[in-house]
Amino acid sequence: MCSIFAYIGYRKAQPILLDGIRRMEYRGYDSAGIAVKNPEIQVIKSVGNVSQLQEKITQIFDGQTGIAHTRWATHGGVTDENAHPHFSFDRKVVLVHNGIIENYKALARQLQSLNIELKSQTDTEIIAHLIALELKSGKNPTASVLNTVKKLRGTWGICVMFADHQELVCARFGSPLLVGKNENEMFVSSDPHALHPYTDRVIFLEEGHIATLTQNNVELSSPTKNSVKAEIVTLEQDWGEAELGEFEHFMLKEIYEQPDALRHCVSGRMSLNQGIGRLGGMRLEPAVLQQTPHVRLLGCGTAFHAAEIGAALVERLARIPAVATISSEFKTNDPVINPKAIHLAISQSGETADTIAAIQEIHLKGAKAYGVVNVVGSTISRLCGQGVYIHSGPEQAVASTKAFTNMIAALTLFATQIGRSRHISKDQGVDILKELQQIPHKMEGYLESQGDIMKAVELLKDAKCVLFLGRGISAPVAKEGALKLMEVAYIPCLAYPAGEIKHGPIALLEEGSPVVVVAPNDSLQVKALSAIHECRARGAKIILIHEEGDSISSEGDISIAIPKCHELLSPLLTVIPLQLIAYHTAVARGCNVDRPRNLAKSVTVE
Ligand code: AGP
Repeated sequence: MCSIFAYIGYRKAQPILLDGIRRMEYRGYDSAGIAVKNPEIQVIKSVGNVSQLQEKITQIFDGQTGIAHTRWATHGGVTDENAHPHFSFDRKVVLVHNGIIENYKALARQLQSLNIELKSQTDTEIIAHLIALELKSGKNPTASVLNTVKKLRGTWGICVMFADHQELVCARFGSPLLVGKNENEMFVSSDPHALHPYTDRVIFLEEGHIATLTQNNVELSSPTKNSVKAEIVTLEQDWGEAELGEFEHFMLKEIYEQPDALRHCVSGRMSLNQGIGRLGGMRLEPAVLQQTPHVRLLGCGTAFHAAEIGAALVERLARIPAVATISSEFKTNDPVINPKAIHLAISQSGETADTIAAIQEIHLKGAKAYGVVNVVGSTISRLCGQGVYIHSGPEQAVASTKAFTNMIAALTLFATQIGRSRHISKDQGVDILKELQQIPHKMEGYLESQGDIMKAVELLKDAKCVLFLGRGISAPVAKEGALKLMEVAYIPCLAYPAGEIKHGPIALLEEGSPVVVVAPNDSLQVKALSAIHECRARGAKIILIHEEGDSISSEGDISIAIPKCHELLSPLLTVIPLQLIAYHTAVARGCNVDRPRNLAKSVTVE
């Protein structure tokens, strides 16, 4: 989604700005632009990617201050005019913005009544004009930004450059921004990852904060305080340069990284002699675990599917109600929140606006939320203040793979922790944890011998629609398989708990319709088998994911075996063939696997 990068210092700004936004390309965007003070403000914008922007830039400017942006369209089409940065009417102010201004239409009408002509269809441009009006009335840059943001409703991370003033001014409300500090230079970024090559000393702007930057100084203020103390923290995790190595795409690379990523996630977090997962960052005492009335797990997309699996694990192991809720639906439904309940907010990026909004609702109603997050220092991890990092390492492909399996691994550890304090015996706990320890090895075994993935791709690549089915803990795996195929190969997919097909989806089936069934060797396999028969009777072709050596294998037109495993841990393995099917189908269809159309890695707008 949209990204911001800015520089003020002693070096030429332009190459640094382009490098900064290139490092955030993985987030997904549709246009890009930069503005450099040279000493006149030069703005160059382009539809497409950063390389296309670079082609448009015919010279290297000497200017040492600049702002840059990649845009993921929300208001107004994908055009050069709508790309950021945006100038004010008098060209005294230029800015970039992440987020959505909800009252922009009303503000645009006010500007038009002052004969200010809007040049774009964006909600962003009005901010530049409002700041310019404040400047014109005699305010300094910081006060101009402050007075302007008081008029805005919605979310913003903005970075503003001025024709007649040296400083850059940034403001944050609902959209992350951080300042990187170095000797005689400052950086602004919406993503810590982009700052790593330049500095590890950063200041995370908090909600409502305004930062005024010169090359040697950062001053923080807020609408209520003239001065706020800046807390400099050291960035912990360096993603480094994510290289493709032997792989053609990041999605495939990340699928193959799952065994090691999972080892990393569980390492040091199991007490095998007690049969208990240890998640120190959650800071949950047994007494709290014992008294909690229920567990609620929140997430979007893949994280929601992991939440559904986590809920099933908690119910099975702790025998208390556990429910997974899609974050974007949470606050909408004015939820009843019990402050004693445990709320888990699950997110790879830690920046998903819908999940952040859900956490804010939980806090508002007096309860705590615990983050289950990949990106260290992200908004969700800081907002929750406690939780567990899933340690997947950088996930660059838009389609999430290794974060999904690590979310499940972390939730399995949590489920054994709460399970041991309430219901399961030590032996049961030990059994699950020992099996969990074996999963990376089993993943490697499967990746070495993947079965008939390419036959499945042949069946799917020209399909009109694909139905995914699973029962119990495999139902969310089926959903995840459908999401993966849909997002990278653009094939319409439906996913249902297998028992549900006879209540509607079976109407879709005709001769040759592909149906993917996830049927590990658990207590519900016999039910999945009934669904297979119902589908085959209507001419469907079955792609079956099953455990090796299992007699159900003869029921698939294409049968793909995963290693045998504990029935509660099967999602960690059954999902891998589904990820591979999605990947290879997308390649076969010539799709842009790592950057699927219209999608963003971090969805930072509600
Ligand atoms: C996954 O493949 C998707 N790209 C998407 O559904 C993603 O899982 C969702 O947007 C949530 O992201 P998060 O984990 O960063 O919060």
